[in-house]
Amino acid sequence: MIKTNQIGPVTRFLMGRVINGQLIRAMACYYVDGLLIDSGPVHVIDELPQAFAGILVQTLINTHHHEDHIGNNIWFQQNQKLGPALAHRLAVPIIEKRSGQHIPLPAYRLTTWGEPPASRAENIGLEIRSENYRFTVIETPGHSPDHISLLEPQQGWLFAGDLYFGEKVCEIHMDEDPNIMLNSLMRLLRYDFDILFCSSGKVLQENPRQAIVDKIAFWEEERDKVRYLFKQGLEPEEIRNRLYGPESPRFERCNQELGKIHLVKAFIKGVKL
Ligand SMILES: [Fe+2]
Repeated sequence: MIKTNQIGPVTRFLMGRVINGQLIRAMACYYVDGLLIDSGPVHVIDELPQAFAGILVQTLINTHHHEDHIGNNIWFQQNQKLGPALAHRLAVPIIEKRSGQHIPLPAYRLTTWGEPPASRAENIGLEIRSENYRFTVIETPGHSPDHISLLEPQQGWLFAGDLYFGEKVCEIHMDEDPNIMLNSLMRLLRYDFDILFCSSGKVLQENPRQAIVDKIAFWEEERDKVRYLFKQGLEPEEIRNRLYGPESPRFERCNQELGKIHLVKAFIKGVKL
């Protein structure tokens, strides 16, 4: 399913697969002034001709290499005669599938988003210009090592990919590092912005800076609690159960990739007893 809506001159394309009548794990791509930020999961590829009818994409950017962000690069490159997608240098070989480290996706990710076809990509550099706007590229690792955000300072737009997601997040992916994400969130606060566009589909138009401040405060508090209990001699599973309760059924459904235990383990990584 692809649903579109307008936030000023920015078009949001909410994309996801519908299974048993439910839209599952949808993500959002954003289009403005010839620029498309992320291309969505390959499972919606057949809907692209209609959704993008009359929309000319001149530049495609991938905020990071995850399959729900790069899955349709190839469609835009073949059908809109686009050049390479622009992405962080670490994402380029993964998008092009020449990294030599390709790990097959687990079944739930294949079902939800699908295996992205290889597509061309190149290093994004420090700034992107469209006809009317100028975007600063900000490195914001943590969700993945190759994650970037885009800021249009004149308009106050911040496109932050999968970095923010929400304030009180206690379940994270196995390969996310919330310590690095905290640094990235703090980096964003060095800039002025009025609207936060998230790949989850959330668009924060009321004090998004405060939302980021609140997320930082929440995780810093959780990190202190986790480390305190760890120093008391509790095992990671005991800390998880005490602070957040057992994993939700989703933990097993997603191959144990998304869970509370990953937040706990990341916060105690490298902490000496
Ligand atoms: Fe992601």
